[in-house]
Amino acid sequence: MAAYSDIEDKILVEEKAWGPEYSLQCFTDGKTVLGTPLVQDNKSAHEFDSGPETGGMGSISGPDMTLPFITREEYDKSLKVVEGIVESIQKKTGKSYHGMVGGQMMLTENEGPTVIEMYSRLGDPEALNMLAMLKTDIIDIFQAIVERQLSKLKLEFTNEDAVVVKVVAPNGYPEKRDKAKGHSVQVFETNIKRNGCYLFWGNADLHGDGQVITGGSRLLALMAMDHTLPPASARIEKTMSSVQLADGWGLYHRSDIGSQQLLAKRQGVAERVRRLYTYREEHGILGSRMGWVPGVGRVDPSHLMLQGMHGPEKG
Ligand code: GLY
Repeated sequence: MAAYSDIEDKILVEEKAWGPEYSLQCFTDGKTVLGTPLVQDNKSAHEFDSGPETGGMGSISGPDMTLPFITREEYDKSLKVVEGIVESIQKKTGKSYHGMVGGQMMLTENEGPTVIEMYSRLGDPEALNMLAMLKTDIIDIFQAIVERQLSKLKLEFTNEDAVVVKVVAPNGYPEKRDKAKGHSVQVFETNIKRNGCYLFWGNADLHGDGQVITGGSRLLALMAMDHTLPPASARIEKTMSSVQLADGWGLYHRSDIGSQQLLAKRQGVAERVRRLYTYREEHGILGSRMGWVPGVGRVDPSHLMLQGMHGPEKG
């Protein structure tokens, strides 16, 4: 360790996790956790997951409660993970958590379906997908949460539909928001409706003179539903020219979200991860870690952790 005297005492060793991410948004009254359809957000700014990370450039869900690259069994395991977290909150704090709980899930080679982040809210833009599929009156859901009667509620979704949401942002977002700000927006709502799409405003300001001006972040989202994801995606593409900026400043969106090509990419990654985690499952090593020190060989990972906690030797 003396050789590393120029670095801070504490070293954080992180494990790289890779695999398809998906969100599982749930309603809970602290006792019952009701899962909603899986949604996948697409955070990268540009096509096929390239470019900087954004607040979300669009999301896909369905048909049915899963995604085309996540199995029903993986959905059930994901729900158990979220249920376990709600239970742990209660055990550790003595307080019941109720309301919305969102699990940012990932299928990983080490764990299978696992959680990488939690939200005490709905996702953005995942909320649009879920609420579009929700058949049960949301007031009844909130009432059941307040009265701790969620176990008696029948939560229903339009399982035959797939939903695609695509976000439209002015050029400059997310890195040069000052350039993306202050442009007058023109939206042809009749065309959007004619193409069977829905419009949701985002970061836009309605001025007194009736003009809508970009705020510098994600401007709006267009949503379409169909029996599968690719035709819903294509419908949004068809209506994309209905959104423009009056001064000619550019807008962008991700044409690949919900497309067959991106779904094939997701499917390929999911299949690789699934082969690895089911192999681990079959050999009883799911979730286990191996410590390896160069020149020493295999060591107990908990031993490594303890040494780390004691800090390095002082030279
Ligand atoms: N979609 C991620 C979030 O809501 O933060």
